[in-house]
Amino acid sequence: MRKADVLLGLQWGDEGKGKVVDVLTPEYDAIARFQGGPNAGHTLEFNHEKHILHTIPSGIFHPDCLNLIGNGLVIDPVVFMEEAERLAAAGARVRENLVISVKAHLILPTHRLLDAASEQAKGNDKIGSTLKGIGPVYTDKTAREGLRTGDIQRDDFESIYRIHRDRHLAQLQQSDLSYDLEQLEKEWFEAIYYMRSFKMGHTDYLANNLLKDDKKILAEGAQGTLLDIDFGSYPFVTSSNTSCGGLCTGLGIPPNKVGRVIGISKAYCTRVGSGPFPTEQTDKTGIRLREQGHEFGSTTGRPRRCGWLDLVALRYAIMLNGVTELVITKADVLSGFDVLKIATSYRVNDELTDQVPYDLTSVSEPVYQEFPGWTSDISQIRHAHELPHEMKEYLRFIELHTGVPITLVSVGPDRAAMIRLTD
Ligand code: GDP
Ligand code: IMO
Ligand code: MG
Repeated sequence: MRKADVLLGLQWGDEGKGKVVDVLTPEYDAIARFQGGPNAGHTLEFNHEKHILHTIPSGIFHPDCLNLIGNGLVIDPVVFMEEAERLAAAGARVRENLVISVKAHLILPTHRLLDAASEQAKGNDKIGSTLKGIGPVYTDKTAREGLRTGDIQRDDFESIYRIHRDRHLAQLQQSDLSYDLEQLEKEWFEAIYYMRSFKMGHTDYLANNLLKDDKKILAEGAQGTLLDIDFGSYPFVTSSNTSCGGLCTGLGIPPNKVGRVIGISKAYCTRVGSGPFPTEQTDKTGIRLREQGHEFGSTTGRPRRCGWLDLVALRYAIMLNGVTELVITKADVLSGFDVLKIATSYRVNDELTDQVPYDLTSVSEPVYQEFPGWTSDISQIRHAHELPHEMKEYLRFIELHTGVPITLVSVGPDRAAMIRLTD
């Protein structure tokens, strides 16, 4: 029987997952999301057009590919409706090629309000959440108080909704947030009725039956391993398991049916929102990386914090996920730097360590290895042998110190800007 492959972000998200999934989709029969929700922003570029996906898997533009939204997702119907309409207008076969799990959880308008209230209450300690309601909806899920997409079909859906809403409103009484709930509910119910016309089903059975029928599935992670609720830089994380285990719980694929684990990392590092970031560069290097990499959030537009590649964190993510191959993205962004740096260990309490500590803020300074940069523009290169020698050395170092082969290098946002290093 076939195994499902998985592609996972190994950093703090925005590694270029959407682009790479879109590039790999022709090799697969189905693409499946298994966690997260509208906090994700996955960008695809082709034919000089850019598309940003939040809930719908990145295989949607390929007419023969099935796209699954697994049980591990949290769906905001309003975001879903906007996205589905936008993608359909751009030519995607959204109604035909998408199946939504009946077990995915619904984000209510009050989940968003609770997210905002929670961040407001935290003041300077705020997580820097995308304010999409992610924390509150996963809280309800684990408290066994959530509403699921399968509930939409129930005759008493509106009255169950009101029970959940009233519980949330009671919690919101402690905040001084102002909102127009009537308007929010009007939009939400409109979107719920819209969603009812989409295919919903048992994506757990569906995914396993596809594998039995020898079909190929690629699971598309959202966020990144360092934002994982268990292994990330807690509490500055998201509320789902972004690492490989999330595939089992969020799609219903058992561990012995997981095949290739494709880990994706930028050639440097970014983070959006609050929380520790040992290799962050707040000087002109960071600004230059942000400018050359156009590092602004796909979901919120916020400027991303930028810094050097962190091998300590990368090796941790590779270990947790069992990564079998690496994809390095945004390598083109490093062109023109005289010197490049990679963190190889951390100094914690005056001692060197190559492990990620319990508290990442305890890292006083990363230890860097320096590399000569390259000056040429590599964004038009499509064959490995044409890459500058310095870049090959940079990539070789990553392979050597992670023990994982790099199979693909991305050198631009477009679908075509991809270099295969090995098969
Ligand atoms: P995702 O969340 O992992 O799918 O990544 P995002 O879409 O949020 O952020 C990645 C950004 O980098 C998007 O704007 C992509 O279009 C862009 N991008 C992806 N790969 C490359 C690359 O190799 N080079 C450059 N310059 N941009 C890239
Ligand atoms: P993709 O899939 C980057 C970050 C937020 C915040 C923290 C918690 O595009 O890589 P949340 O809204 O989940 O409660 O926010 O996680 N975050 C992301 N950062 N890319 C993402 O998704 C993210 N999703 C959440 O900025 O720091
Ligand atoms: Mg993103």
